[in-house]
Amino acid sequence: MTPELASSLHAAIAAEVEAAPTPEHALEAAVRRLAASVPAYTWVGIYLLDGRELVLGPFVGKPSPHTRIPLDRGICGAAASSGRTIVVDDVNADPRYLACSLETRSEIVVPIKAGDRVLGEIDIDSDQPAAFGDSDRRLLEGVAEALARRIATRAIS
Ligand code: SME
Repeated sequence: MTPELASSLHAAIAAEVEAAPTPEHALEAAVRRLAASVPAYTWVGIYLLDGRELVLGPFVGKPSPHTRIPLDRGICGAAASSGRTIVVDDVNADPRYLACSLETRSEIVVPIKAGDRVLGEIDIDSDQPAAFGDSDRRLLEGVAEALARRIATRAIS
């Protein structure tokens, strides 16, 4: 993705997230818009932290078997526990990877945080190897910040 596309998408999605009537609509809108705008994003979903587990929220793509992921499992668990974005260029070379689809080749997981508190994360899979570059990371970290502003007040432990 070019930096220009990342920045225009970020502006459009942040506006949609802010205008959404409820936090749930904001999460849905972000997922739908990301999946519709970037062909390389094969599966786009949001997990929300519930105690020591991540619970699958809205997503676009094939149903995932991983609807609840403990914090000590998967790339999703690693991103939530560290509070940092994780980019995996080749999922088959990463022992942490929990498979969702046989076609998936690369993945990015971006925590949604209020200060240091992790509320959830954006998880995106691609059927292309090494699909996620710096512009994708910046776009998704920006979307995660916009989402955090909408969901920070929800009662999530
Ligand atoms: N691949 C993730 C699991 C979620 S599915 O991709 C939807 C992981 O390793 O945590």
